[in-house]
Amino acid sequence: MDFALTQEQQLIREAAYKFGQNEVLNGLAERDRAHESDPVILKKMGEAGLLGVCIPQKFGGMGADYISMGMVCEELERADSTARVAMSVHVGLHSMTLMQWGTPEQHERWLPDLATGKKIAGFGLTEPNAGSDASSLKTTATRDGDGYVLNGSKIWISLADFADQFLVIARLAQTSAKAPYAAFIVDRNLPGFSSRPIKGKLGVRAGNTGEITMENLRLSKDCMLGEEGDGFKIAMSALDHGRYTVASGAVGIVTACLDACNKYANERTVQGEAIGKKQLVQQMIASMVRGRDIGRLLYYQVGWMKNQGLRHTREVSMAKWVNCEAAFDAANKAIEIHGAYGYCDEFPVERYFRNSRGAMIYEGTHEIHTLMQAEYELGYRSDKALSRTLPTWPFAD
Ligand code: CAA
Repeated sequence: MDFALTQEQQLIREAAYKFGQNEVLNGLAERDRAHESDPVILKKMGEAGLLGVCIPQKFGGMGADYISMGMVCEELERADSTARVAMSVHVGLHSMTLMQWGTPEQHERWLPDLATGKKIAGFGLTEPNAGSDASSLKTTATRDGDGYVLNGSKIWISLADFADQFLVIARLAQTSAKAPYAAFIVDRNLPGFSSRPIKGKLGVRAGNTGEITMENLRLSKDCMLGEEGDGFKIAMSALDHGRYTVASGAVGIVTACLDACNKYANERTVQGEAIGKKQLVQQMIASMVRGRDIGRLLYYQVGWMKNQGLRHTREVSMAKWVNCEAAFDAANKAIEIHGAYGYCDEFPVERYFRNSRGAMIYEGTHEIHTLMQAEYELGYRSDKALSRTLPTWPFAD
């Protein structure tokens, strides 16, 4: 086992850090306050190669490994969750799922534009009445000639108004099969597609979230990923990738809390000494360091398993669960250390607090991951090897 980062991984981490600090943070406080998203950031992420970090070079990506992808998420979320959310849906939930389940023709058709950010992608699983219970979807796909007609709505969709295409999971109308779902790539320019933004979120305010609706939207058969009946497995394997980005990003929030608290605790004095010298402050700092270091080990392990093509549903659920809790706890402590200053947006820690709360809901709630871990341990759930895995790394030419 080798814990040393390669030179390539270190350079990618550094580039993502600089991008976050220079591009993502530029004007962010105003956008966050005004609940405004800036699609130009997505364009710049594409130009910087970040949207193609773990996409093979033959499709225009950087061809780096999956641990590098996690490090990009960590460094972007160290600046703001909005940039990591874009990585989650565009790269994790969409492009990586396409890499895992797409045919060679589908790879050629979609990956080059996704890897370079020419096209932006989203993911549509959740519905108004199907969140944690992901198998009670109402959106239908009805066979029609050599294609399908989709009807239904998906809610809490990141980049709903910005993405050019979505990976949508729908219930097959004409089937009595036990697994009645299919997965489709849906282009937003098709007749019958519409979206609307959701306003008033607690966090990730500078990120676009909304609802997408498909009304008699016709798709040709070659827009289906996998086969009829594969839809639920595709959705769950997409979550294996999405949860990885959330888990690695959460470490970035812990690191951002440490960045802010190290500075503040060294500058702010009480009774003639820096508050960093106070043991109760040190206790909070130590707990954040614990969250950061354990969090990295958890996501590096998952990244390594992805590189090997190993199933990692249990491990990624653990990493997402533990790291999101650590991020929320770190943000709460960061506010405590900043006192009243932590409670207003003059300092960034209140934003970390609001943003980290969302990650305990999306991509599997705290409760879902708790139950999953108990079920694995009790022998009620197990991870069988998959017939379709991500391409192992290094990628074949
Ligand atoms: N990869 C491939 N196949 C998988 C899989 C995976 N990761 N996980 C499960 N499967 C397969 C299983 O092997 C099984 O197949 P067989 O019947 O052939 O054995 C089938 O899928 C059903 O699996 P389960 O029995 O595990 O299904 P379940 O009904 O018990 O799942 C659950 C329950 C784990 C709670 C699941 O419903 C779940 O994860 N819910 C949470 C949903 C979620 O996280 N939503 C987030 C939405 S996306 C989002 O938030 C993004 C955003 O933009 C903010």
